[in-house]
Amino acid sequence: MTYVVTDNCIRCKYMDCVEVCPVDCFYEGENMLVINPSECIDCGVCEPECPAEAILPDTENGLEKWLELNTKYSAEWPNITVKGEAPADADAMKGVEGKLEKFFSPEPGSGD
Ligand code: SF4
Ligand code: F3S
Repeated sequence: MTYVVTDNCIRCKYMDCVEVCPVDCFYEGENMLVINPSECIDCGVCEPECPAEAILPDTENGLEKWLELNTKYSAEWPNITVKGEAPADADAMKGVEGKLEKFFSPEPGSGD
């Protein structure tokens, strides 16, 4: 089991999650973060920290595609352990539906 970052993170990217993770397993894309499932120790500490409720345990139904996406991009994107600045329109993007289709970017972020 692992926790995964899902749709709600895209273009919200608050980054409140990164500093609480005891094993530093968040990775940064241009407009979302992902978790490396093989590094995550399932502590659950990050889940309530996310203002967008984007982090979920992969035991919930229907999260297979997110597990795949977190696995793929955590191998490509840089590690992030320090909270940066959220996008200016993060609050406006909160809860918007279909963000994966509309806004996902495979480009890496800058990391720490
Ligand atoms: Fe890190 Fe724990 Fe969240 Fe996994 S569940 S990403 S180990 S804070
Ligand atoms: Fe994304 Fe939530 Fe972290 S919006 S960057 S998972 S705090």
